[in-house]
Amino acid sequence: MKQLSIALVGCGRISEKHFEALMKLEQDYKITSVCDVVKENLDKAVELTGAKGYLNYDDLLENEKPDLVVLCTPSGLHAGQGIKAAKKGFNILSEKPMATKLKDADLLIKTCDEMDVKLFVVKQNRLNSTIQLLKKALDKKRFGKIYMVEVNVFWARPQSYYDAAKWRGTWEFDGGAFLNQASHYVDLLTWLVGPVESVCAMTGTLERKIEAEDTGAAVIRYRNGAIGTMNVTMLTYPKNLEGSITIMGEKGTVRVGGIAVNDIKHWEFDSYDDDDKSVETSSYKVESVYGFGHQGYYKNVADALLRGLDPHTDGREGRKSLELIEAIYISAKERRFVNLPL
Ligand SMILES: NC(=O)c1ccc[n+]([C@@H]2O[C@H](COP(=O)([O-])OP(=O)(O)OC[C@H]3O[C@@H](n4cnc5c(N)ncnc54)[C@H](O)[C@@H]3O)[C@@H](O)[C@H]2O)c1
Repeated sequence: MKQLSIALVGCGRISEKHFEALMKLEQDYKITSVCDVVKENLDKAVELTGAKGYLNYDDLLENEKPDLVVLCTPSGLHAGQGIKAAKKGFNILSEKPMATKLKDADLLIKTCDEMDVKLFVVKQNRLNSTIQLLKKALDKKRFGKIYMVEVNVFWARPQSYYDAAKWRGTWEFDGGAFLNQASHYVDLLTWLVGPVESVCAMTGTLERKIEAEDTGAAVIRYRNGAIGTMNVTMLTYPKNLEGSITIMGEKGTVRVGGIAVNDIKHWEFDSYDDDDKSVETSSYKVESVYGFGHQGYYKNVADALLRGLDPHTDGREGRKSLELIEAIYISAKERRFVNLPL
């Protein structure tokens, strides 16, 4: 059986989840090269993986022929680095978000199409057992007509978190609470209930010394008529309190809460379905808000690259939440409703 060779770029915090997942799936993957501009981070990754280390991304692209380039660098670098890899004919897996600007994401998608390489965007929260169960209920149309959707992300990120890396909270490389910390939750709004017709939002940098927002609220009108709201803050005292989604429909109400949509708090429908038996076992405890989804995500990537299955989230799928976030930012800046598509 062929193992996919991996070149991972950006050996910071989230790379640990990637290394862990890739090593558990060793029948499908081999990490052959790693890259970071900070020697200390690179050395740690080389020691952990035994892969060849590069301090310069261009050198890696010149010298390696990976099956998949994995981008765990600051978000504003993903599109440019992805385009370079695509032009070399390599498949790409980008951490979320795939870019900080929609136009950069579009150029990345276009380049991948032209070069006939695959593009994957990590959305591991879609694979949470709680969210999978909710998705099944939606696909089976158990809610009937959907009236209202509410998403809350009440987390805490102290100033020290932003100060730990210069790119955090900048418009060019990161964005704020919507684009970084809560972007998986924006994805749930579009993936579960979308598409969105229009959005109206307000954002603020209320406390943290960053360029982008630490707090914001958005109101959404869906094409199916439902109204959605999303409330986000990174200023919750004193620690992460809630990451939740509530869907209220004609024939059902579900609330998935906990600190990272890990706990089904309410599950009620007008008629029985065998899925109802899984409600209690679907909830789980979390150590971090990242969840356990990276391994499941990589399983699907291997299925797509080696066994011809459809990818869970390709570039076009990853683009949807980015488009909604950009609309949220335009609305907040220009103080007006913004219609989608942009
Ligand atoms: N899926 C998730 O739940 C999740 C969670 C956290 C972060 N992320 C995403 O992962 C990405 C990285 O976040 P992080 O928290 O690991 O950041 P980080 O700052 O801890 O790590 C980024 C690493 O990239 C390196 N780097 C910077 N510029 C580089 C370059 N030009 N070439 C090579 N390496 C370079 C840095 O030295 C650092 O080691 C971001 O896009 C973030 O949004 C996703």
